[in-house]
Formats: sequence, structure tokens, C-alpha cells
Amino acid sequence: KMNAFISNLLSKMTLDEKIGQLNLLTGGEATTGSVVSTDVESKIKKGQVGGMFSFTTPQKIRKAQEIAVNQSRLKIPIIFGQDVIHGYKTTFPIPLALSCTWDMSLIQKTARIAAIEATADGLNWTFSPMVDISRDPRWGRISEGSGEDTYLGSQIAKAMIKGYQGDDLSKYNTMMACVKHFALYGAAEAGRDYNTTDMSLDRMYNEYLPPYKAAIDAGAGSVMTSFNDINGVPATANKWLMTDLLRKQWGFKGFVVTDYTAVNELIDHGLGDLQAVSALSLNAGVDMDMVGEGFLTTLKKSVQEGKVKTQQIDNACRLVLEAKYKLGLFEDPYRYCNEERAKTEILKPENLQFAREAATQSFVLLKNDNQTLPLKKTGTVALIGPLANTGSNMPGTWSVNSDLANTSSLLDGMKANLGSDVKILHSLGSNLLADEEYQKRATMFGRDIPRDNRPEEEVIKEAVDIAKQADVVIAALGESSEMSGESSSRTDLEIPQVQKRLLQALLKTGKPVVLVLFTGRPLVLNWENQNVPAILNVWFGGTEAAKAITDVLFGDVNPSGKLTATFPQNVGQIPLYYSHKNTGRPLEDGKWFSKFRSNYIDVSNDPLYPFGYGLSYTTFDYSDIKLDKSSFKAGETINASVEVKNTGTREGKEVVQFYIRDLVGSSTRPVKELKHFEKISLKAGESKTVTFKITVDDLKFFNSDLKFVAEPGDFKVFIGTNSRDVKTSQFRLR
Ligand code: IFM
Repeated sequence: KMNAFISNLLSKMTLDEKIGQLNLLTGGEATTGSVVSTDVESKIKKGQVGGMFSFTTPQKIRKAQEIAVNQSRLKIPIIFGQDVIHGYKTTFPIPLALSCTWDMSLIQKTARIAAIEATADGLNWTFSPMVDISRDPRWGRISEGSGEDTYLGSQIAKAMIKGYQGDDLSKYNTMMACVKHFALYGAAEAGRDYNTTDMSLDRMYNEYLPPYKAAIDAGAGSVMTSFNDINGVPATANKWLMTDLLRKQWGFKGFVVTDYTAVNELIDHGLGDLQAVSALSLNAGVDMDMVGEGFLTTLKKSVQEGKVKTQQIDNACRLVLEAKYKLGLFEDPYRYCNEERAKTEILKPENLQFAREAATQSFVLLKNDNQTLPLKKTGTVALIGPLANTGSNMPGTWSVNSDLANTSSLLDGMKANLGSDVKILHSLGSNLLADEEYQKRATMFGRDIPRDNRPEEEVIKEAVDIAKQADVVIAALGESSEMSGESSSRTDLEIPQVQKRLLQALLKTGKPVVLVLFTGRPLVLNWENQNVPAILNVWFGGTEAAKAITDVLFGDVNPSGKLTATFPQNVGQIPLYYSHKNTGRPLEDGKWFSKFRSNYIDVSNDPLYPFGYGLSYTTFDYSDIKLDKSSFKAGETINASVEVKNTGTREGKEVVQFYIRDLVGSSTRPVKELKHFEKISLKAGESKTVTFKITVDDLKFFNSDLKFVAEPGDFKVFIGTNSRDVKTSQFRLR
């Protein structure tokens, strides 16, 4: 039925109208590049707009749709996109934080709520999930993905697609997902945004491509190209990537959209003028051009000159129309504009409650000496720091639709959620960045961060005087929301020095200090780890972050988040990730340096906090691993079990992690690879046996012929509380 409908429509369309469907414009407002769409209304009337994004109000969406269906010749409805990345108005923690929950049903539900809210406001297409693996915390966009791991990243990709798209895309409250940025964007050299990537096929197939593939297999309706080049050809013009791999090998049936002005940027990549690069991009298998209008302004000429076949334009146009058909837009162009539903669904109490829960689950307790945390709900607390009294900094990067006006600061959240037995004192203590840093990088300052222009010593002294009056000091420090995310790469990953000077002064008071760390990326925290008794990493926790932080600090919720990206000891170690190769000269166990081995002379190879790491207010003990057989062959399974016991005094959740190592292979294999995990909850004193079923699929990898194989031989298995602290056993694949 769909094919017949679209063939009929295509037969009525002029070449100009077909090209018009390949054009994606903004509503003329928020942008992430220098180009802003113009003359949008007249273009819609002329049938020159297929999709639109970046709207600030639902009224504007309805108006644009009215123009399309009432005033354009063929009345083709517009598809409306938006960066609904971690929630809509109800904003959840940033994606990197959400990944630290290791809870797939929770992550899926955040995407489901985001879709329910966004569709009520007229949106039907989200530029999410971002599944770029990244092992470089210098890259600001590490905050938008799920961290460094291939397996976990693939599970999260699936969960998010299911959450957005549900099982029926034409339903009024599901939206089309757009998996991005295809491909390898997270491997930008030196962590500098938009930079070149250069990668072996081994790494590409085994480590970086699987999350995109998982999203496609889960039914993602669209794909966004990345800005970088791959093997010398920018993704946006890369035929191997967009056609051979994505469509022919993976069987992708949806449409491909570029990133913002990515076609035009091919000129700067050095691929030709606008007409040439537009033709290259379309011929490579790209269907829709975001903002830059290269397709709109040059494709017709390229057809006339024989550089582009009309068939290629027909194919692209068909895919865009199919997406609209699947969304039900031809049946009802206003299906997703529902002012009544918007009133009841957006920011409803259940959504906010869930945002609070999701945030508590995403926090990672990095250090907790002498059970500094949880805090008692009595006495005097001094809440100090530049991030203590700002609400709009809470949601983090890509929170365009977030309800900032109703997002509490930590100070207000604590006041509202703690009884009168806790007296809360507050002082700014320091600016986010020192004056000279601020002058240089005003955009890093973030939204609505209080600032004090008095001399630094005066501001610190005031805070120290307040700290002295308290039983405990909470220091709210770290990055502002604008210090991570797009175009926010950093080479210095420490907490800004001006804030560290405040922290030092607070520690000198002798009061117990809890560092509440705001960040969108792994930071370098050696000094803090050595000197501060408790560190709770709260990332950017979304609309309900303030309540959630209070819940965890004061013990209503026991933290259980586990890192999904390694925290290095210093920037020089980057890229640092747990699933590295062994090398031919690995360091001997227990040593941190050895001459002529693979290491540094000035720092060990160890991370500060490894992948999978995160503490709890309780403790867990792992038994040795029990395997039900010592060898197996394809078609059989081995069960690997451990008993996990809660040895502390309160209930807690634990992510039990299962890794393998292929000891002998035709290619070099990582020293550990996550293959399974299970999040369990245990009451104080309770034990549970967790069993992982190992099948031959867990042992497969792409060999040097790019065949996906499991090779017979010995495998190590590791089960533990993080990627470093594990129990070990071994089995054989016959
Ligand atoms: O979706 C984003 C992308 O991640 C970065 N450039 C802009 C796009 C649309 O806003």
C-alpha cells in the first residue's frame, strides 16, 4: 500500500519538488553553525522544504505544517525534527550519565517519556540516539554518548530506539529516531571536535561500528552523517559507508540526513565546489541535506549536466516520503500537534518523578572514606561553590527544550527537600573560571552561573568563614554545562584552578568536605582523590537533579552508578580504555614501570577510576566463579556463576560485570571485553547467585578478512564489580 501511494505521488512531482523533499531547514532560530535558514515560509509554499527542525514553540510547528498542506502544490506534510537527546521538557541526565545506570529498561523509559512529551508538541523525529563510542574525554561530545564500551553502547542504542519508536511509528506518541553520527565521530583525533578520524578496519568493525549496527537492527528510521572523514573520504560523501556498508551489508531501509551544513563543509574538506560536493553526497547515498541547501540549489543543474541521475533523486525522495508515510503524516499531518495532550503529558508529575529516579541512578560515588556519606539529616551544612546556586546549569548539554525556569539549583533543592533539622548555609566561594580564563572563553561560562567580581581571596575567605560554622562542607564544583558538549573540547581536564584553590581552602578548615562534582566528561581528579574524603559525581542530572543529589547525599537513595568511561590519571594517558590490546611488551603484573615494556616513565598505565567503577554505601563480596563445564563447542553453552553478597548494613544495587578474553586468536584481541552484565538489588546480608550463559556468539569477532568468527581455543572469563577488580576463570572452545 505504501509503495503504491508513494509511486503515485512521485509520478506527480516535478524534479524541483523532489529535490525540495531533500531539503531540511530550521525554523530560523536556534542553530549550531553559522548558517541560518531564510525565506522559510516562501520555500514551504514552493514545495522546497521536506523537513524542519529547531523550533522553539509548538505553535510555529503547526503554522509551518499549515502552510505546507494548504499552500504548497502537492500538500506534502513536513517532518519535524529536534535534538531531543536526553528528555524533552522533562530533562533526564546527560546520555553519558544515563549510561552509568547500566539499566536498559530505565534508559528505554527515558526515551519513551521524551517521545511522549515531544510528540505532543508537534515533533515526530529526534536526532538521537548518539551512539558514537568515545575513548577521549578531551572531546566535549563524550557527554552525549554512552562512553567507551562497544557492548554496553550497543545495548543502550537498542533500548533508546525502542523507547522513541515503540512498536508502531504511526502512533501519535512515538517518534522516528535518527542514529548518529555515522560514523566514528567519537574518534576525532586529539579529541578536537570535527577533526579527522583514522582507524583500522579491525577497530572499526569490532569496536566502533557495532552500536550503529545495533540501532539499525533495532529499526532506527534514519541515520545522520558525521562531520569527520573516514579513510580519507568525509562521511557525508562516503559511498562505501553510506551505500556499501549501511545499505548493502546492513540492509538499512530508512533515509540518511547530513549533519548541520555537512555538505557545504565538503568544500573545506577539499572535495570541490558546492555543486560538485552536493552531487558527491547524493551519489554516495545521502538523502537529506541539513540547512546548507546545496541539494536545493545545485542538484537540478547536476541532473541537466548528467552528473546526477534522476533515479538517485527519486530514490532519496522515496525514502523521505516513506518516512512521512510511516509516521502517518499523509493520513493526518497534525497527528503530532496536540495542545490538549501537551497540557497533560508534558512535565507531568510521574515524568518528573522518573527524572529524579533516573538521576539518582546515574550518579557515581567515586570516593567515600570513613563513610563520610551519607550525611545526617541534622546539624549545619555549608553548601559552597559556583555550581551550588544555579538551576539552569543542571540539565547539561543539548537541553534546548528543557524547562529551565522550573529547574532548581542544588541550594534550593536541598532547602526544599530537607527538614528544618538541617541548617543550610551558602557562599559562592569562587567563580567558575578565573577572570582571565573567562575573558578568553566566555562561551564556556554556561547559563546563569553566579559570579563575584571581588578579589578571589575575599570570596574564598567569606566561604571559609561559613564553612567553619558548619558540621560538614559540600563543595559544588566542576564544569558548567557549556564546558562539555558540541564544540567544547578541552586539553586540560582538571577542575578549573580557581575552584581548586577554593577546595584547598575548604579542606584546610578541617571540616569533612564532600565534593559534588558536575561534569560532562571524565576529569583528571588525582589531587581531589588524594585529598577530599568523599566525591560524588553527579554529571548534569536534568530537571530534577537538585532533588536527586539531595536524595543521595542524605542517604534516601544508595548510589549505584558505574562509570562507562575511564577516568585517566592525566591527559597524557589518553586514549585510555579498559579493553586495550596486550601489545608484545606488556607490563608485568604488579609493576608500574619496567624498562623496554609498554609504559610511561612518569605515570603508571592504570586509570584513576576504571571502566565499570562506582562505590555504594554498602559493600559487596564476590565468590569465586563456578563454570558448569570447562569446555564447549558451537551450539552448546557454558554457565558462569558467582555468588554476590551484600556485606554492608544497607540495601544496595550492584552491576555484576562479565568480561572475556580470547587468549589466542588470528588477530590480536583485547585484554578484556564486556559481554554481559546484570544489575541486582540486595538487602543487607542478602546473597544472590548470578549466572551468565556463555554462547559461541559471545566469542565472535571480525577477523582480518572481516569474517565474524569464533576461533577455537582458550578463553579467560572475569566477573566483578568493575573492569579491574574481578574474579577469574578459564574455559575452552573446542
Ligand atoms: O543533531 C545535531 C548534531 O548532533 C550536531 N549538529 C546539529 C544537529 C542538529 O541540531
